[in-house]
Amino acid sequence: MKQLIPSIYYVGVNDRNKERFECLWPLSSGVSYNSYLVVGKKIALIDTVDVRFFATFLDNIREVIGTRPIDYLVINHMEPDHSGCIGLIRQVYPDICLVGNKKTLQMAEGFYCQSGPSLCVGEGSELSLEGMDLRFYLIPMVHWPETMVTYEPQSGTLFSGDAFGCFGALNGGVLDSEMDVEPYFPEMIRYYSNIVGKYGTQVQMALKKLGGLTLRRICPTHGPVWSESIGRVIAAYQRMSLYEGEQGVSLIFGSMYGNTLLMAESVAEGLVKGGLKNFTMHKLSRTDPSYLIADAFRFKGLLLGAPTYNNGLYPLMEQLLSDLRHRGLKNRLIGCFGSFTWAGQAVKHLTEFATAPGMEMVGEPVEMKQGFTRETGLKCRQLGEAMARRILEAE
Ligand SMILES: Cc1cc2nc3c(=O)[nH]c(=O)nc-3n(C[C@H](O)[C@H](O)[C@H](O)COP(=O)(O)O)c2cc1C
Ligand SMILES: [Fe+2]
Ligand SMILES: [Fe+2]
Repeated sequence: MKQLIPSIYYVGVNDRNKERFECLWPLSSGVSYNSYLVVGKKIALIDTVDVRFFATFLDNIREVIGTRPIDYLVINHMEPDHSGCIGLIRQVYPDICLVGNKKTLQMAEGFYCQSGPSLCVGEGSELSLEGMDLRFYLIPMVHWPETMVTYEPQSGTLFSGDAFGCFGALNGGVLDSEMDVEPYFPEMIRYYSNIVGKYGTQVQMALKKLGGLTLRRICPTHGPVWSESIGRVIAAYQRMSLYEGEQGVSLIFGSMYGNTLLMAESVAEGLVKGGLKNFTMHKLSRTDPSYLIADAFRFKGLLLGAPTYNNGLYPLMEQLLSDLRHRGLKNRLIGCFGSFTWAGQAVKHLTEFATAPGMEMVGEPVEMKQGFTRETGLKCRQLGEAMARRILEAE
């Protein structure tokens, strides 16, 4: 439990056990499920936590309000990492009124057979807690259709749901000002790109809608409460939802027997020769797709290399391209290289990706038949150099 301001408390929990979020995305430093109590004469609980943490959650709540009842349970988002405790909360607080929009209340009934007191709110609806006020804004598809945010105008607090959240359990503190937040920023890119990345347009609409609000703190459902870093966090969301990349490159390649790997080494030499330092290099079989997607969202440039495999593209590269297409990644400068032994397919598929609408292909694709030669090395270095130059002139 942690008091954020006299009438707002953090009552969320850390999950340091879950290996993968949504059974997909690695949680190398855990994740938090954030929930908050807003205390006026009436009391509102904003979102809940993963059901496995109910005991700790209830302890946190009781530490703040003792045996007082909770009047309202506001559900900003129905994904089970936040809605999981609705049923158990209702058992402990039978008179609690569930607050959500039409879609939320329908989902609550569908998931948890909820039929107790409820209040249906819409865009701009207000709810007085007598001392604190809650106002609701709908932000559909950030990250489900029912998603909304809750704003408390007196304190300038936005309970933003998954928006502005990140992976990483909370190490001792809750507020950004009391922690080293640097490790959370790469985890915000990873969270956004992996989970919300597909919905850039909807995030843009949400940012416009919330742009007029006075914001003193943003309380998301994962990661730190943002106060002194609000500007940086909103700027990051602006960038990511517009699919704008930073001035750098991610060089991602697959290789089974080391031939395409030699090409990748030469491409990297070309990047350095071209004066670019800000790049990452990933071998597909060693780096989890979660981090590859994050780097593809982070950087303006992508260099992709793969062997031909069963008359198609090396499967891990095929998976990556599908992950990126699925998220609508665009505005990228892309260079490609690949290899084959008898009939090349890899470069053809990579070139299709690099020349799709919204993408710009950089340099000449390099295609290698069988073994690596000096000539191939030269072409790969030229590709790297061309990318470095294009990236450096793009700013
Ligand atoms: C399972 C498997 C399937 C392959 N399928 C093809 C193919 O359909 N067409 C082709 O030209 N080469 C094919 N190759 C050959 C590789 O594309 C080629 O040897 C490539 O240079 C390997 O790159 P690497 O050393 O980076 O793994 C295949 C290789 C393997 C191991
Ligand atoms: Fe979610
Ligand atoms: Fe979530």
